[in-house]
Amino acid sequence: MAFLSLFLHVSLLSWSAWAKVELTMHETVEVYLGDSAQIPCQYSFTDDNNEPSFVMIQWFVRAGGNTSRMRIFYSDGHQQMVDSNTDYSGRIQVTSDQQGIQLTIQDVQLSDEREFFCQVNGLAAGSAEGKTHLRVFAPPEAPVIEAVPTGVSVANESPSKVASCEAQNGFPKPNITWYRNGMPLMPSPGYVNVLILLTRESRGFFTVQSTLEYKVVKEDKDAHFSCEVSFFVPGAIRTVESNSVNITVHYPTTMVELWKESPQGLVKEGDTVELRCQGDGNPPPPFIFSREQEEDVELESSGDVLILSPVSRKDSGIYQCRPLDVDRYTDIKGEMQFSVHYLDPAVVIPKDSEVMLKGEDLTATCNALSSLKTSTVWYKDGKEVGKGNTLHLRDATYETSGEYICEVIVPSLPALHTSGSVHIIVQGGPQLTGVDQEVRMEEATGRMVNLSCEARGYPLPSISWNIIGSQNWYEVVSKANEHMTHSVISVKVTSDISAQCNASNDMGTEVKAFSIKAIPRVTTTAPFSPAEGSGVIIVVIILCLLLLAILGSVLYFLHKKGKIPCGRSGKQEITKEKTTKDDIVVEMKTNTKNEEAVLLKAVNGDKQGPNDK
Ligand SMILES: *[C@@H]1O[C@H](CO)[C@@H](O)[C@H](O)[C@H]1NC(C)=O
Ligand SMILES: *[C@@H]1O[C@H](CO)[C@@H](O)[C@H](O)[C@H]1NC(C)=O
Ligand SMILES: *[C@@H]1O[C@H](CO)[C@@H](O)[C@H](O)[C@H]1NC(C)=O
Ligand SMILES: *[C@@H]1O[C@H](CO)[C@@H](O)[C@H](O)[C@H]1NC(C)=O
Ligand SMILES: *[C@@H]1O[C@H](CO)[C@@H](O)[C@H](O)[C@H]1NC(C)=O
Repeated sequence: MAFLSLFLHVSLLSWSAWAKVELTMHETVEVYLGDSAQIPCQYSFTDDNNEPSFVMIQWFVRAGGNTSRMRIFYSDGHQQMVDSNTDYSGRIQVTSDQQGIQLTIQDVQLSDEREFFCQVNGLAAGSAEGKTHLRVFAPPEAPVIEAVPTGVSVANESPSKVASCEAQNGFPKPNITWYRNGMPLMPSPGYVNVLILLTRESRGFFTVQSTLEYKVVKEDKDAHFSCEVSFFVPGAIRTVESNSVNITVHYPTTMVELWKESPQGLVKEGDTVELRCQGDGNPPPPFIFSREQEEDVELESSGDVLILSPVSRKDSGIYQCRPLDVDRYTDIKGEMQFSVHYLDPAVVIPKDSEVMLKGEDLTATCNALSSLKTSTVWYKDGKEVGKGNTLHLRDATYETSGEYICEVIVPSLPALHTSGSVHIIVQGGPQLTGVDQEVRMEEATGRMVNLSCEARGYPLPSISWNIIGSQNWYEVVSKANEHMTHSVISVKVTSDISAQCNASNDMGTEVKAFSIKAIPRVTTTAPFSPAEGSGVIIVVIILCLLLLAILGSVLYFLHKKGKIPCGRSGKQEITKEKTTKDDIVVEMKTNTKNEEAVLLKAVNGDKQGPNDK
């Protein structure tokens, strides 16, 4: 509850006309609303010899613009009295000290801003009067700034409203100053207008509303605006600043950029290409996309993005985008060029397959049309056999035959690759494997010996054998694949053998000869020696004869008993029995018949086997 009364001006002396009293008052006393105000009134009687016996003191007030005064206090040697029924009844008191007296007003109101008169009357000792203007101050509330929510266009010819600022309930009237980036904005015709609306409310407070009209430029998009309220307080001027606000500035596009957002790097056929257009205008305008060669054909786009999917080589070219917020003829546009790269399927010459003669030369080519530099590698059986788009095959052998694959890649765009192939067939007469033309060997008599013959050639050779010296031979292996025929025979060595393997096709015949020298065997311990062998045969014959004799006896015995009709087969007997037996037997018969059929079939099969070979 600090009482703040400041002496703004040097005290002035007031001299009354019949000057025998010296009276001093401040010209003004300043005080905050609601505080107490002290108005001193100092006086002294100039004639020390004539001390007054009676001193009357009165206080009056006069409102601004009202000439009549109203007494609010009276005192003399006998009494002190606050006048009743005034604005000050019950709110004032007067105290005295050495220098004089002092009027104290409690709970100062805005209406207390008026002149207070102090009148001192000492009758014969003289009288005097002085006055003080009481000033009351109420600081306004903090200023509230508000920027226009809509964008402000730089195209507006005159200053447009950008913000408003309000300071409420101040006394006396506060001022509002505008700032842009901390620099005060002074009103300037055509650039800055400040419109002030001052309202006084019933309680006497002032509310100031200031509107800033400003001619925006593009740079103002980054500027911040603020307002400051300034107001008097006892003995000083105070200021309070508002928040900063920024505004949305609308300005036309002056430059447009077009670029490829995706894919990164080179574009190939089938890709999805995304082009993005961006200008420096605000708000971002819509764009139209077109190709350079057909500027009038608008491409379908969404906002600032043009999507081309899937692209082909004919989509290569120059693309443009234009903003729609500027005149068509200002020629503000973004431009970019891109190429769609491709790699066509490989064309291999010769096509599919090619037959060449043994010893011949051949050059194969593999070409794939591409927009970029390609690199070609030839493979055969998974191994690299050549580089470059031509492949030279010289002095063809059967090893030359096979599938040749050329792989074409684009080193700068690895996603592009293709391949082609050619099947090479080398034609020629049979060629037998094995270095020696004639194979010589020795083998013990009675042993089996394998002779092998493998022939390459195209068309595939057939192999025939010509054996002299043994009737006992057969083929154990006979196989062929697309490159070769292989035959192995097993020959029993009975005497010296001369064998020939004859491989032949349309292109020729080649023969490989074998000669086997039979070595007679003399060992007695060998279980399969010829001497031991004849002994075994004799034993077997004797055993057979014995078995025959036993069989004969059994057959004779059975015949005598009448169980088996002589010269008839078991089958006939069962058939005969069928007629005399009941149903159960019939079933048995059926089974037996089936078994017989299986048996007969097996026998026939066995017989057919050797015949087929
Ligand atoms: C002037 O003041 C007197 C006393 O306070 C009052 O009666 C009168 O109505 C006032 N006149 C005007 C014009 O305010
Ligand atoms: C308000 O502006 C007026 C006119 O420029 C000036 O006289 C006055 O002193 C200002 N008041 C404050 C509180 O700044
Ligand atoms: C104001 O400035 C802030 C920060 O710089 C920014 O985020 C905001 O978008 C701006 N507002 C306007 C209306 O420009
Ligand atoms: C001959 O070849 C056949 C089939 O490969 C084999 O089973 C047999 O053991 C061979 N005989 C000899 C004496 O090598
Ligand atoms: C090999 O076989 C071919 C065809 O079967 C025949 O013309 C040729 O005379 C035979 N050669 C020999 C040496 O047996």
